[in-house]
Amino acid sequence: MTQSKRTVLIAGNWKMNNDLPEGAKLASELVQALPEIPSGVEVLVCPPTVELKFVGCHGGILSSSIKLGAQNVHWEPSGAYTGETSVAMLQSVEVSYCIIGHSERREYFHETDEDQNKKAKALVAGGIVPVFCCGEPEEVREAGTYIDYVCAQVKAGLLGLELSSPNQLVVAYEPIWAIGTGKTATADDAQEVCAAVRVQLAELFGQEMADGIRVLYGGSAKPGNIAELVAKPDVDGALVGGASLNARDFASMVLKAGA
Ligand code: 13P
Repeated sequence: MTQSKRTVLIAGNWKMNNDLPEGAKLASELVQALPEIPSGVEVLVCPPTVELKFVGCHGGILSSSIKLGAQNVHWEPSGAYTGETSVAMLQSVEVSYCIIGHSERREYFHETDEDQNKKAKALVAGGIVPVFCCGEPEEVREAGTYIDYVCAQVKAGLLGLELSSPNQLVVAYEPIWAIGTGKTATADDAQEVCAAVRVQLAELFGQEMADGIRVLYGGSAKPGNIAELVAKPDVDGALVGGASLNARDFASMVLKAGA
C-alpha cells in the first residue's frame, strides 16, 4: 500500500451541536490550539450549515490552515426544496468538503444510496470534496456480512462518479454500533474494512486512483486511540464526532496523528 503518499485527514463532524457564539468560540480555540498543523496531516471542521459563514470568518477557520466542511447538501442547483442547501451555496461560503451519507441521515431522514450518488456527483462537479460515509449496523456486524454490506453501499453510492484526481473524494467507514457509544472498533477491525473499501474503490475507479483516495475511520475516535488507528496502512484519518466538540481533545488528535 502507498499510505505514505496519502495525507492523513482529521475531520470534525460537529453534528447539531453549539449555537453560533459557541461554534465560533470552539473554532477560535481550535485555531489557537493548532498554530501549526503537522506535515502530512490535514484538518477539517464541519459545523452546522447555519454557522458555516460565521465560523469560517469570525471563528478564524478560513484564515487558518484548517478546512471548512458542510454536513449535508442537496443535489439540485436551485428550486423548491424547502430547508435544503445547494452546492453553489456551499461554494459561496468557501466550503471545501461536505459529509454525505452519514448513518444518522440514512436512518432519521431515510436517505438512500441513490440520494448519496446524486449528492456525490453534484459535489464533485462543483469542486467540493464529498466525505462519503458508509458503515454497518450491529446486527450486520454480528451476522459477519459487514464487508459485503459496506462495499455495496460504496458501490451504489459512488457508481458512475467521474474523478480526475483521488483528492476529489474521501470515504469514511463508520460502523453504526461504534458511533457515540464509546465502543470503538479495534484498529484491526477498522483496517479490515478500510482495506475492503479500497478494493471496492479500485473496482470503481481503478487501482491507481483507489491508492490515492483517503479512507477514514469514524466511531468513538478519540485522543487515546487515534495513533493506533492511523498507524494502520489503509486508515487515512478519522471522522470525529464527540471528541471534535472539545478543542483540546481535537487538537490533541491532530498532533497525535502527525507524530
Ligand atoms: P463519535 O465520534 O461521537 O462516535 O461520532 C462519530 C461520527 O458519527 C462522526 O461522523
